[in-house]
Amino acid sequence: MRYDSITEAIGNTPLVRIDPAVHGLRNIDLYAKLEMLNPFGSVKDRPAWHMARPHLEAAAGTDGTVVELSSGNTAKALALMAGLHGLKFKSVTNRMRVPEIKELLLLLGAEIEELPGRSECLDPTDTDDPLTHFHQALSDPDSTYLHTDQYFNPRNVEAHAMGTGPEIVKDLDGRVPDWFVACVGTAGSSTGVARVLREHDPEVRVLGLVSHKSDFIPGIRTIDEVHQVGLFDPATYDTIESVTSDEAIDGMITLIRRCGLLSGPTGGAAYQGAVRHLRGPDAELQGTGQRRTAVFIVCDRAESYLSYVRQRRPELLGRASRGHAPSHLTDAEIRAEARAVDTVDARRWIEAGEPRPLVVDLRSPHAYAALHIQGSVNIVDELFEELLRGGLPFSKHTPVLLACPVGEKSLRYAAALTRMGHPDVRSLAGGIVAWRDAGAPLVRE
Ligand SMILES: Cc1ncc(COP(=O)(O)O)c(C=O)c1O
Repeated sequence: MRYDSITEAIGNTPLVRIDPAVHGLRNIDLYAKLEMLNPFGSVKDRPAWHMARPHLEAAAGTDGTVVELSSGNTAKALALMAGLHGLKFKSVTNRMRVPEIKELLLLLGAEIEELPGRSECLDPTDTDDPLTHFHQALSDPDSTYLHTDQYFNPRNVEAHAMGTGPEIVKDLDGRVPDWFVACVGTAGSSTGVARVLREHDPEVRVLGLVSHKSDFIPGIRTIDEVHQVGLFDPATYDTIESVTSDEAIDGMITLIRRCGLLSGPTGGAAYQGAVRHLRGPDAELQGTGQRRTAVFIVCDRAESYLSYVRQRRPELLGRASRGHAPSHLTDAEIRAEARAVDTVDARRWIEAGEPRPLVVDLRSPHAYAALHIQGSVNIVDELFEELLRGGLPFSKHTPVLLACPVGEKSLRYAAALTRMGHPDVRSLAGGIVAWRDAGAPLVRE
């Protein structure tokens, strides 16, 4: 194969059958669409190229800067494409949560601007969010940036409707799979592929996967965040299900160790979510003599996620296991171990406790600066998780009140601390939102 430019190698990725002995579905053929084999490494190569191409060609030779709100694969692909055209690339994001990806982007020559925002994803209705301000500035017709706008740009969807979807049909000899399974980030891949498959066969069922509430799988949204994405249309999906980070890593390990597929966490989430969802239909097909087909996407590769795996499942990297890790606790364990207090009791405890509790606010610095409980200290949830291993800045005997936005994360962390032998840790029920709604006092930094 000979090319004039590496961008010509984007697309035409393999569709590989997963060994039924691995997935255990007897009546369903499960295929992986290997988007990780695109030249820049992910499912985002196609939309990045389709969105950037008109800008790149027009700006070649100028000192323009391509800019995108991305902390991952889109940024990676755009940085390489910009470099290829002698242009600069700037990635704007609320938080770079995976250190290897940040370093890789710097290696690729990207400039990274981290804004102190709330969600990793853009919420245009949240006019206080610095990321939203930045997005508005970029959308200004006088802006000198070349903005690819992945959360709103229809070319993101189009790239998959022109490439990924038709390739799946072609590789299945003109047939449409009975199920299509994809993780939802910007919703570009799932929307584009679903559109094409439905045009061929309206009976295809589309399963969208998001990360479990208050969990984190790099590249995809939680069920709450997904509604903030401009391209997301609930009608695209027959079902939306959530996957935990543990399930994503389990799936990733199966694909790597049993299937020879060097998948990252969202490929693992798609595999695990697909198998979990298809068990029911598989059992129903038993004895009917019918076979069905399902396709899921492997979005990117494993190498960039070693710190992500190390943090959640250190035993997979030859380190001591983290029995107390918050992400390892089941809902039943959390309910059994954690103690929650409502706003009235929490206020009484803060005002009159002997000794008074240390109030730890687990939200982002931006949210904390805007409004917080007087006297509370801000330790962002991810740092707090690190400190659970590395050493907490308070003794076991310090009473602690943990607060997060809605009281979910704080409950998980309260359970973890209780397990570690802290006798008096409580979670603020309903979080800062409930505190605010009850009219309890909050202060600004
Ligand atoms: C690793 C990974 N998986 C899945 C997705 C989801 O793809 P989409 O944005 O097409 O919904 C992304 C998107 O950035 C990603 O980076």
